[in-house]
Amino acid sequence: MRIAVIGGGMIGLALGWRLARRGAAVAVFERDTVGHGASHAAAGMLAAACEAEPGEAALGVLSRESLGLWPAFAAEIEAASGCSVGLRREGTLVVALNRDDAAKLRHDLAFQRSQGIDLEWLTPGEAREREPYLAPQLAGAIFSPGDIQVDNRAVMAALRVAFQRAGGVLHEHATVERVATEGGCASGVVVAGEVHAADVVVLAAGAWSGGIDLPIARPPVRPVKGQMLAVQMDPAAPLLRHVVWAPKAYLVPRADGRLIVGATVEERGFDARMTAGGMYSLLDGAWRALPGIEELPLIETWAGFRPGSRDDAPILGPTALPGLMMATGHHRNGILLTPVTADALAATILDGAPDPRIAGFGIGRFERMRAAA
Ligand code: FAD
Ligand code: GLY
Repeated sequence: MRIAVIGGGMIGLALGWRLARRGAAVAVFERDTVGHGASHAAAGMLAAACEAEPGEAALGVLSRESLGLWPAFAAEIEAASGCSVGLRREGTLVVALNRDDAAKLRHDLAFQRSQGIDLEWLTPGEAREREPYLAPQLAGAIFSPGDIQVDNRAVMAALRVAFQRAGGVLHEHATVERVATEGGCASGVVVAGEVHAADVVVLAAGAWSGGIDLPIARPPVRPVKGQMLAVQMDPAAPLLRHVVWAPKAYLVPRADGRLIVGATVEERGFDARMTAGGMYSLLDGAWRALPGIEELPLIETWAGFRPGSRDDAPILGPTALPGLMMATGHHRNGILLTPVTADALAATILDGAPDPRIAGFGIGRFERMRAAA
């Protein structure tokens, strides 16, 4: 089977790798070079518990399924590429800095426990035993042992190697203009006016997925901007070892001493400029939780675009156009959702039946919502 994947982010590359390993002839078309979209910008948190919200029960189930797949998925990428992906298992602390925060955390804890998520309430003393540099006025914390992290930039580098070693073909600087059709089915992609024939086309162009010409309704995906920054800790004596969620920022320590601070959530289209307000709010939020951050050198700032769908859940699986599949709209959790997306889409494409794990995430749900309204 010939498969064309539009977009060389983590979703497109991971799916391409899974398909190529099963013997499909896969070509990934990337407008830029791989790993410059949201998959490069992300923090790499696999936050199935901490990002679980009421009203998103189905997404929570998919997220926890994907979290469970990550350790084996990471080991397989590492074995296939020979590159580390920086999986760290210290877990996550969600910290409260005053009584109001603590009351909210206890409320969230009750919901998350009702979903069967394993979480522990820590007193301020217990939290500071784990992370001694947290702010002295700490009012309590939740410890989530399951919310681990990967180095998403390392994953992208490793996936590129694994995909090509499996026989996948990577077309970089190849902007897909539209999906070609023949006899009412998708028949390939058009790049610089030339048709690249395929039996199946997968749209995995992240926040840009709504901008590609399709013979059916485009997916309702928009860019949700996130500004980030990184400071450098001493890797031999890091200020932080766990991922920490504070009320106004999250902090993600990497093995090389980088400490990533994120992220703003902004509706600004594709405006990638950094703003003083964005940086101020991140630094203020991080400093309130970890005052020692003010001594650390600032080493990088960047912005990325989350692919946000109308209901914040991903858009996965077949469409009204036979041969066209969606793998987009992963919003805040695309790194977390990569293994389940890749496995379920690969099974749907190669085994010819929709994978039940993604049954509730098809693009048809938006039409049904509109009809119901
Ligand atoms: P992308 O990585 O954006 O890849 C899409 C690719 O398609 C791009 O490379 C683009 O160049 C290409 N493309 C676009 N148009 C075309 C075209 N016409 N032809 C060819 N190629 C095209 N998720 C988590 O799980 N954990 C986190 O901690 C986390 N933190 C985040 C922090 C920030 C600041 C941001 C912005 C996102 C974060 N996310 C996180 C979300 C996550 O990054 C995304 O959901 C995920 O990376 C989406 O992957 P993707 O492959 O769909 O998109
Ligand atoms: N999931 C973290 C973010 O989107 O900022």
